[in-house]
Amino acid sequence: MALLHIVLYGCQGSAPSPSEHPDLVTITFTHGKVSGDPRPLEDLIAEFEAAHPTIRVRDEPLPPSTDQQHQLYAINLEGGSDNIDVLAMDVIWVPEFSRAGWIRPLDFEFTPAMQADFIPNALDAVTQDGLVWAVPWNVDAGLLYYRKDLLKKYSRPPPRTWDELIETAKIIMKGERDQRLHGFVWQGRQYEGLICDAMEFIWGNGGHVLKPDTGWADLTNVATVGAVSFMRDLIHHHKVSPEVVTTSDEEATRHIFGTGRAIFMRNWPYAWVLLERDGSSVQGKVGIVSLPTFGSNPHVSTLGGWHLGIAKNSHHPEEAWTFIEFLTSHHAQQVMALRAGIQASRTAVYQDPELNAAQPFLADIQPMLFSARPRPVTPFYPMVSQILQSEFSAVLANVRDPHVAMRSAERQINHALGKQQ
Ligand code: GLC
Repeated sequence: MALLHIVLYGCQGSAPSPSEHPDLVTITFTHGKVSGDPRPLEDLIAEFEAAHPTIRVRDEPLPPSTDQQHQLYAINLEGGSDNIDVLAMDVIWVPEFSRAGWIRPLDFEFTPAMQADFIPNALDAVTQDGLVWAVPWNVDAGLLYYRKDLLKKYSRPPPRTWDELIETAKIIMKGERDQRLHGFVWQGRQYEGLICDAMEFIWGNGGHVLKPDTGWADLTNVATVGAVSFMRDLIHHHKVSPEVVTTSDEEATRHIFGTGRAIFMRNWPYAWVLLERDGSSVQGKVGIVSLPTFGSNPHVSTLGGWHLGIAKNSHHPEEAWTFIEFLTSHHAQQVMALRAGIQASRTAVYQDPELNAAQPFLADIQPMLFSARPRPVTPFYPMVSQILQSEFSAVLANVRDPHVAMRSAERQINHALGKQQ
């Protein structure tokens, strides 16, 4: 934890002296480190500063993991820290941060006319208790990446169902006779990414975590237990997923797939630009489709993404807002999508001809991004997530029976939710 403190408090000395620049205001921008190339964001910040000579941005990249960032914000914001102005929040944090009084409502700044340009599911995630608390910066949805060349070689279409994925993976793994070639890699480490993946299996199988009509945990239903059992079976029974998925996050799986060692990968859209860049061993060999589902059920992706808000104790809310307006503008979102593969929260960016030429799959994935489903929406989400992370993880490690694990998670979550009433 001490290390995390240094991340935020380490560069206090770099603020310009007010006597040198009487009108200069420095705002601090905290956000997760960009996976891959940091330059697109750095260039945008430089462009903003050039256009606004009286505002300087102190860029504070935090560890990439959402769980670590959350811990850091909880400590600093709960402690009343006033050295954060603009913060990038994971889509799952807004209910908690707004209730805790860590961020300001933005209803005066982010007007309904402005909101109309954003993807509705992303807007829903920044609205809480009738107020809007942040501006959607980008959106994520789980996608299936596949090796076009290998599927073609074995005359297999991209899978529509999980059964088809298993079948195709087995055929290709057998045919290639390469011990290092895995079938399907995904995010199974004990962290937030595991919840994102698990929800896709659970929803795809018709299950849920919180019962929609009551809001209480309901995990022992057949669909949910079946989905979690299926995740375990991918590794331990079908053996199309290697055991290393139980310790893998997004970047670890991208590395395996990007070095040609997997046929299929579940990941967010950002990976494409990195897989297709010069020098990549899979350049030109990658396809993207919706995640498979169970039987004829609809395909479901988890909604991810990041929102920009203003910390309650910021001394510079006006400058903070000017910066948020810039970073969420059409221009800035187009730059991030094109150069970093981080997809826009503004609907119009998806029509951009340059972007569509560079990322031909965009038209196909747009419906998935626009219809991605939010993880359980509750101010107590971090607690729900922690309980699920540990139970899902025990199932994937094959040390706990799925039904027993889901019963335990259900009890723990309902006990904790009961205490909050
Ligand atoms: C991505 C998503 C975010 C999610 C995280 C999990 O950053 O945008 O919503 O929580 O991955 O690892």
